[in-house]
Amino acid sequence: MDRQLDLKNIPRHVAVIMDGNGRWAKERGQIRLQGHLAGMEALREIVRHSQRLGVEYLTVYAFSTENWKRPADEVSGIFKLVVKYVNSELKELNDNNVRVRILGDWSAVPKDSADSIRLALKTTENNDGLKFNIALNYGGRAEITRAVNKLISEGRTNVTEDDISGALYTAGMPDPDVIIRTSGENRLSNFLIWQAAYSEIVLTDVYWPDFTPEEYERCIIEYQGRDRRFGGHK
Ligand code: IPE
Ligand code: IPE
Ligand code: MG
Repeated sequence: MDRQLDLKNIPRHVAVIMDGNGRWAKERGQIRLQGHLAGMEALREIVRHSQRLGVEYLTVYAFSTENWKRPADEVSGIFKLVVKYVNSELKELNDNNVRVRILGDWSAVPKDSADSIRLALKTTENNDGLKFNIALNYGGRAEITRAVNKLISEGRTNVTEDDISGALYTAGMPDPDVIIRTSGENRLSNFLIWQAAYSEIVLTDVYWPDFTPEEYERCIIEYQGRDRRFGGHK
């Protein structure tokens, strides 16, 4: 019998590498930005479904520090979608008590996107429902380097693992229980490389725009079948 979703064992922190927008569009003879737009629509449903399931933290990889290598029109199109996303989703997110945070150096993003981000952060800052983290201009190595520099600037000459964890963008959050990657790729691509130390990795061939709540549940069921040992044994 197929495993059923266990609502008593929902991961506290789900992280998602939303990949495959470009290939999704190509298969349909559309431009890559159409794929990013469709991906944004998929994200709306996954945020809603995370709330239904009782996920506490949802972290999504929206734009990496390496994605600046892409053509300028694709990059500017993605940042315009950030504005569009905030315009269309912020009210619902706030009504549902969602707390939005950005992981990454968003001071480097175009001004209209930065303005939208500022509004989203400010509007939701006192919410205590789903913690929705958007990794934007995010890279794991940049994050760790920034954390170490922060500790150095505080005069530290010796640091613990907890010090580093506490200086990351994810300070105070649990590490992801599961990292889902869509589109059939088998790598982390610089996502949460410190925090992923004991995360379960769930891979699916589905392109991100086709990632439905049903596929999301299937990934969580796969996670629930894993034996998490954290280096110990029973
Ligand atoms: C993921 O989709 C979105 C971003 C990286 C911004 P891609 O744009 O990487 O899609 P593929 O991997 O080329 O299909
Ligand atoms: C990872 O996907 C980044 C995001 C999903 C935002 P990429 O498409 O950039 O990763 P690579 O280049 O295939 O490793
Ligand atoms: Mg990709």
